Amino acid sequence: MDQDTLKAEVAKSAIEYIDRHLQPDAIVGVGTGSTANFFIDSLAEVKHKFQGAVASSDATEERLKSHGIPVYDLNSIDELAVYVDGADETNDALELIKGGGGALTREKIVASVARQFVCIVDESKCVATLGTFPLPIEVIPMARSAVARKLVGMGGQPVYRENFITDNGNVILDVHGLAIEAAREFEHEVNSLVGTVTNGLFALRPADVLLVGSPKGVLEKHASD
Ligand code: A5P
Repeated sequence: MDQDTLKAEVAKSAIEYIDRHLQPDAIVGVGTGSTANFFIDSLAEVKHKFQGAVASSDATEERLKSHGIPVYDLNSIDELAVYVDGADETNDALELIKGGGGALTREKIVASVARQFVCIVDESKCVATLGTFPLPIEVIPMARSAVARKLVGMGGQPVYRENFITDNGNVILDVHGLAIEAAREFEHEVNSLVGTVTNGLFALRPADVLLVGSPKGVLEKHASD
C-alpha cells in the first residue's frame, strides 16, 4: 500500500470519527498539507451535515471553497467543534511536529480554539523522539539571523527555507539536529526567542486523538492511552 492510499484511508476514518460528533451548526477547523487535502475531499461528501469550516491556510481555504464548503473568518467564531490536520511527526504523547508545509502558525491558532484536535497521519510519521523531521520556526524576516544564532546556541542547526514566504508574510527556519525529549518546555523556550512568531511543536496543545493509517487498517490513539 503506498503512502497516498494510507493518507486517503486515514482521511476517510477522520470523517467517520467526526461524523459521530457533528451537529448541523458545527464549524470544522481544517488543516493544511497532503493528508489534510484528502480530508477536505472526503469532507465535501458530508458538507450538508455541518455549517462550514475555518481554514488554516490560503491553500486550504481555496480547496474548501472549490468544494462549495463555506469558509468562515476565525474572528467571527467563538469555538470550533473539532480541528483535523496532519503532522510531520508524532510521538506516543500525541505531541507533534508540524509546519513542513509552512502553515504552522495558522494551524496552531485554529487548533487552539478547537474543542478536539484530531490528527491524521500515515504510520511513517510515528516516532519515539521528535526531531528527526527538522523543526519549522516562523520568524519575522528582520530577526532571521538573530533567531538562527540563538537556535545554534540551543544545539540546533537552523536552515533558512529558501524562496518561501508564509501566508503571514514571514520566513521559516527549519532546525535540524534536534532530539526533543521535553517537548512542552522546548516549545515554550523557542517561542520566547524575540522575533519568533511560533514554532512547529504542538506539545502545549497536543492532539487529543491520533488516527494512524497502516496497511493493517486505521489505528485510533487517545492522549489518555
Ligand atoms: C503544514 O504546514 C503542515 O503542518 C502539515 O500539516 C504537515 O506538514 C503534514 O503534511 P502532509 O500531510 O503533507 O505530510
